[in-house]
Order: sequence, then structure tokens, then C-alpha cells
Amino acid sequence: MRTRMLGSSGIEASVVALGTWAIGGGPWWGPTDDETSVRAVHAALDAGITLIDTAPVYGFGRSEEVVGRALRDRRSSAVVATKCGLWWDDESGTPFFTQLGRSVRRSLDPRTIRVEVEASLRRLGTDRIDVLQTHWQAVPPAATPIADTMACLLRLKEEGKIRAIGASNVSPAQMDAYRAGGALDVCQPRYSMLDRHIEADVLPYCHRHGVATLVYSPLEQGLLTGAFGMDRGVQAGEFRTAIPWYEPANRQRVLDMLAGWKDLTERHACSVGQLVIAWTLQQEGVTCALVGARKPEQAIENAAAGDLVLAASDLARMRRDVESLGHPE
Ligand SMILES: NC(=O)c1ccc[n+]([C@@H]2O[C@H](COP(=O)([O-])OP(=O)(O)OC[C@H]3O[C@@H](n4cnc5c(N)ncnc54)[C@H](OP(=O)(O)O)[C@@H]3O)[C@@H](O)[C@H]2O)c1
Repeated sequence: MRTRMLGSSGIEASVVALGTWAIGGGPWWGPTDDETSVRAVHAALDAGITLIDTAPVYGFGRSEEVVGRALRDRRSSAVVATKCGLWWDDESGTPFFTQLGRSVRRSLDPRTIRVEVEASLRRLGTDRIDVLQTHWQAVPPAATPIADTMACLLRLKEEGKIRAIGASNVSPAQMDAYRAGGALDVCQPRYSMLDRHIEADVLPYCHRHGVATLVYSPLEQGLLTGAFGMDRGVQAGEFRTAIPWYEPANRQRVLDMLAGWKDLTERHACSVGQLVIAWTLQQEGVTCALVGARKPEQAIENAAAGDLVLAASDLARMRRDVESLGHPE
């Protein structure tokens, strides 16, 4: 497993990271078994993954709790990244979405951040968070200035509660505002070979300024493993219904493209998912691929992509193929 540094934090992390959104279960992901999830985290660590990403909102605390359980006697082998900024305890913040009767609100107010950090430390069973990332940026009417949010994060760092600061779903202008206050070590944007919009701005910005990128949903929630065939239904309420590539006509085009890479998977003795993760990791500005898994075998397969290096000609061919897919209908 290759490793890379997270900005200027001094923290080294595996290039393939484990995402634990699905481990939280809930309407977006459906039934989830905690014992299997714990085994998935252990399998990931055993396969060389060190970076584990979670968030309070994933299953309203469940993902952090499961990660905490899995790390009970393995804390020192993991770099734990979690988030703050999605709040459901009271009416603070700006309404974002409602789920299971809870109104989830965007709040990056220093008061709510502090409450969230204490709850995350408790659920994770640890005394420090390695990377704390703002999950979604504050918007009016509760638009806390980034300078105030950053001042709070820097104080948490001084207090030893967090080791590095990150921001998710941010623009370069917002990153400028964070960096005006102190070191921003991590940016967590959405990026896959089917969703390359950050190539225009966020990736070059991070590359230029030494901000590590943990790119999320690189498998488009499983579609890019080839395992999500035409016969698999997407249930109402599943998050996948929000991804137009899952519509039958679009999905077929993606599956045809993946099938066309058979010679590549044979030559590299790898799966389609591993090929896609390797391609993602070799794009300029990408530091780590944040790949979700809630089954041990998925974590093991995904981790192995951290050793796969593709030739420039393979990278270019795959890019030509995804570009010729165009946009989903
Ligand atoms: N900052 C943000 O706003 C944000 C947003 C989204 C995600 N994230 C983070 O990024 C992580 C990854 O994103 P993601 O979970 O949305 O998408 P992803 O990594 O593209 O896909 C993960 C899903 O793909 C399926 N999968 C994974 N490995 C597989 C394999 N080897 N074979 C077959 N299927 C496989 C699994 O689905 P099943 O579980 O259904 O089998 C898994 O849950 C999240 O867990 C989270 O930590 C952050």
C-alpha cells in the first residue's frame, strides 16, 4: 500500500482510505450489520488501509460508534478522520435535509462544533481526532464566517483534540478563507471518473497549495465496480436514486465501457473496481481515494488497488472512454 502525506500535518495516510458512510445504514443505504462492519474495518486495516473516514451524521452516530468499536484495541494503527457541521440537536444552523424525523442543519458555529467534537471523541472512544473536516459549508441565514470557524478549529488543535484541519465540499475561494487563518491540510471533494467537475478548479488549487485531497465516491457508490448490473434494482429512498448514472439507459453505457476494459483487467490481473481506483489515484491533485465498504471482502479488494500503477497509455485510454460517454441523459 502506497502512502502520502496529508498536507503539512506530518500525518501519513494510505492512498486508499476506508469510507464508512454506508456503515451508518439508514434510508440512504438500507440494512447494515454492525458485526460485519467491524470485520470490514479490521479487514481494511489488515490489508494496509490506515485512513478511516467517518462523520457524526452517518447513521446519526452509528458509523462513529462502529468505527470506535473496531478500533478499541487498534487505535494506534489508524488515522481517524471525522467531520463537523451537520447538526440536529436544536434549531441552530440552516436547514439542510430531514431524515428519520430529524432536521439536519448546516452549522459551523464554534459552539456547535465544540459540542460535536466532544460527542465524536466519545463515540470513537479516543482522546484525539486525527483529521477534523467541516462537512458542508455554512450558508445563510446561519452563515458563520469561515474566519470564526477556522479560529475554533485552530484552538481545538492547540488543545490537542484534533491534529489536522480539513474542509469538505468547498470552493477555492472558501479554501482561501480557511488558509488565511492557518493550515488547511485536507480537502474532501466528490470525484470519480464519471464526475470530474473539480478538475477545473479544486484539484489544481489543492495541488498548487499543498492541500491533500481525499476524494469521495470514486466508485460512484459501486457502479464502477461493474458489480451493479442491470438486474439490480435501486430501492426508493436509496442515495443511488440521486445519481443519474444509475438510470437504466445510462447504467448500460457505463457497464459497456467497463466491459471494454477486459484486456486491461486481464493484463493487470485486477478487478474493474481496482482499475478504476488506480486510475483515480493517478490523476493530478488526487492524494487519497476514499472508498466506501461495509463488507470485509470489499475492503480487501479495494485496498489492493493501492499497489496498482497504470501506464500513461492506459490512463489516457480510460480517460478517452469516459469522456466519450459524455453526460448522463
Ligand atoms: N464529504 C462528503 O460530503 C461525503 C459524501 C459522500 C461520501 N463521503 C465519504 O466517502 C466515502 C466513499 O463514498 P461512497 O461510500 O459514497 O461511495 P463509493 O466509495 O463510490 O462506493 C461505496 C459503495 O460501493 C460498493 N462497493 C465498494 N467496494 C466494492 C467492491 N469491491 N465490490 C462491489 N461493490 C463495492 C458498496 O456498496 P454496498 O455497501 O451497497 O455493497 C459501498 O458501500 C463515504 O463512505 C464517506 O466516508 C463523503
